[in-house]
Amino acid sequence: MKRFTLRKIINRFASAKTFILGKSSLNTYPNEINIEPTNKCNMKCKFCARHNLTRANCDMDFTKFCDITDEVKEHTDAFKFIGIGEPLLHPNIAEMIEYAHSKGITTYLTTNGLKLTPEMSEKIINAGLDELCISIDGIKHSYTAIRGEGVYDKVVNNVMIFLKIRKGQKPHININMIAEKHNHQEAEEFRVFWENKADRVTIKKIHNFGGNVGDGYPNDNSGPAKYRRRNTCQTPWFSVLLLAEGEVAPCCGDINGTLSYGNAFEKSLREVWNSKKAQAVRKFHKAKNFNNESVCSICNMGDVPTVKGNIFEKVYRYFFSNKNLQGPSSFNQ
Ligand SMILES: C[S@@+](CC[C@H](N)C(=O)[O-])C[C@H]1O[C@@H](n2cnc3c(N)ncnc32)[C@H](O)[C@@H]1O
Ligand code: SF4
Repeated sequence: MKRFTLRKIINRFASAKTFILGKSSLNTYPNEINIEPTNKCNMKCKFCARHNLTRANCDMDFTKFCDITDEVKEHTDAFKFIGIGEPLLHPNIAEMIEYAHSKGITTYLTTNGLKLTPEMSEKIINAGLDELCISIDGIKHSYTAIRGEGVYDKVVNNVMIFLKIRKGQKPHININMIAEKHNHQEAEEFRVFWENKADRVTIKKIHNFGGNVGDGYPNDNSGPAKYRRRNTCQTPWFSVLLLAEGEVAPCCGDINGTLSYGNAFEKSLREVWNSKKAQAVRKFHKAKNFNNESVCSICNMGDVPTVKGNIFEKVYRYFFSNKNLQGPSSFNQ
């Protein structure tokens, strides 16, 4: 199935238009869907909002995933397998990638790399994954302090084997570091280590996941929770997070689905994307009315003035993508 279609281009422009006009009722589909294959995880990273997860552990139903893919395939550009768990723990993760790929949807997956065994690597490469992002937060000492004992060497080794198994340029490999108060001094050393091995190295600043991560992580909301949003976020016009149980949350910050637009396993995604709850979120964003205690009102992504990259990337991100992805302006926010 074709990846670039007129319908997808029209959907992109229509999303940008509705955002610029400030409409809350949309006749579009999300351009990108963040998919949470599972909310189970095999790590306990200090800065992760997963410490505040209140939902029951579950895996996404594969058949329901296929139904949603079929519904959106002509309009949605990309699926990003992420969420508040480890995507490679889903028993059908390679099949999910393969199904989306066969329907012309670009696929990205973010992983902690622990389950990226040679066997798993073969499977996801053959499934047609477009980009693999591996989260490696610094060099050994700080990584271990954040992500736990005895995993750094294993993850680095898995990435090296993956790079050997991969033939050609697909999937693109992005090594990502979350810079925070304990590891940001190592950012340069990290970049130098990875830049000749991976296709891309990104260093993003820690953010507060809508108040679910605190300065003294875990389970401490005293720091970032004091943050107050000031600007409209573009995300509610362009993308959503499909949680493992089918709830549709505005973005990855809403780990417990507190602002859920509805359940896409019970209604069509289009209906949920345009529900009264979804419209209410767009309305309070456009009005910059962040007085309530929702995840959006205390989220510290989005007040970021800088957009990195060349001029084309800047223009593209400004109009068509979520420019907030660079993170907040301080390591401690
Ligand atoms: C929640 S994880 C889920 C995917 C996978 N388990 C992993 O660790 O890559 C998705 C991404 O969020 C990042 N992350 C976790 N906590 C964060 C925080 N407080 N601020 C910014 N990014 C964070 C992780 O490093 C990872 O790149
Ligand atoms: S950052 Fe990823 S690996 Fe670490 S606890 Fe959170 S979901 Fe798990």
